[in-house]
Amino acid sequence: MGRPPGLSVRLRLTLSYAGFLMVAGALLLAVVWVFLLRYVPDGPLWFPGPHVPNRSDLQRAFAPRALQALGFLLAFGLLGGWILAGRMLAPLTRITRATRRAANGSLSHRIHMEGRNDEFRELADAFDTMLAQLEAHVEEQKRFAANASHELRTPLAITQTLLEVARNDPNRDTGELLRILQAVNTRAIDLTEALLLLSRADQRTFTREHLDLSLLAEEATETLLPMAEKHGITVETSGGITPAVGSPALLLQLTANLVHNAIVHNLPAGGTVSVHTESRHDASVLRVENTGRRIPSELVPTLVEPFQRGTERIRTDEHTGVGLGLAIVHSIVRAHDGTLDLTARPAGGLLVTVRLPRDGTFVSDKGVPVESL
Ligand SMILES: Nc1ncnc2c1ncn2[C@@H]1O[C@H](COP(=O)(O)OP(=O)(O)O)[C@@H](O)[C@H]1O
Ligand SMILES: [Mg+2]
Repeated sequence: MGRPPGLSVRLRLTLSYAGFLMVAGALLLAVVWVFLLRYVPDGPLWFPGPHVPNRSDLQRAFAPRALQALGFLLAFGLLGGWILAGRMLAPLTRITRATRRAANGSLSHRIHMEGRNDEFRELADAFDTMLAQLEAHVEEQKRFAANASHELRTPLAITQTLLEVARNDPNRDTGELLRILQAVNTRAIDLTEALLLLSRADQRTFTREHLDLSLLAEEATETLLPMAEKHGITVETSGGITPAVGSPALLLQLTANLVHNAIVHNLPAGGTVSVHTESRHDASVLRVENTGRRIPSELVPTLVEPFQRGTERIRTDEHTGVGLGLAIVHSIVRAHDGTLDLTARPAGGLLVTVRLPRDGTFVSDKGVPVESL
């Protein structure tokens, strides 16, 4: 694209191969020449007798043969080089073809390079892995768009039905109608705000500040305490100063989402929630643990997907979320270069662990910041 055409790699390899062969051949001939000179006397012979070959005879005999040999080497080098280079570069052609297909939108194609584990095989395998990830990501985005549209349509469809019913039945209690409309509308606003929040966290455009996770945990817990009391759930917080770097608003949202979940997805009565923060040498840790129903462990990884909800709803009151709570937590954690772990507790309920880098970059096992790996 816009670049001047250059010699193809195949041609360059061929020329270097032939060139090397010529140099090696010339060197060999030179060695032979020097060797022969030692056994042939110099200058014209002055003693009588049969003609003994001298240096000029040798030169006459050797030079044409040497030139022939060099010519042959050149032809051989060019042909052999061309064939060898073609064979060497064949995998590259396959990779290029696959790249073009991917660029045209066909992400399902894989190279599936066979043969030994060499550099080309590694490149092809890495390319296949990248394609698989890209394909999964695109699928996820499509699913997300479909689910989001569906979720957004639901309150609008309910509103439409309610309005139709009200128009056909003028004697209906408008107070009741308004109450339902308002609830439906609030849910639609919650959903839209959650979607905006999700895209904001994904964009990573927030400013980072030094903060204390334990303060955020306290603030989130305090705000949600009335809801916990209403559900008959006790909330405990523990832990000392836990420094981290990030957006206070987003991390408060993260904590609030986790504590909110721990309250609404808890036992019908008598449940507990424990919120713990801890500063470790490698990370700042936030742990939210709650009692509740048993969660099948195969279900746990799916819970962070947008609009994925557990199999059964324990409560379906106005406090349950829009199905984006954990997805938002996940993208906030990702935006802070942290990790999110969900574990189903054997006795029921969930244990959520968030690890954030203490100073903005995670240090790996090898003592190297992950961002620079
Ligand atoms: N602390 C928790 N305890 C038990 N189940 C949970 C907890 N947090 C989340 N879940 C399960 O994960 C699902 C997804 O959570 P979330 O993304 O916040 O959506 P929502 O809370 O709106 O359903 C919930 O529907 C619930 O089944
Ligand atoms: Mg939730």
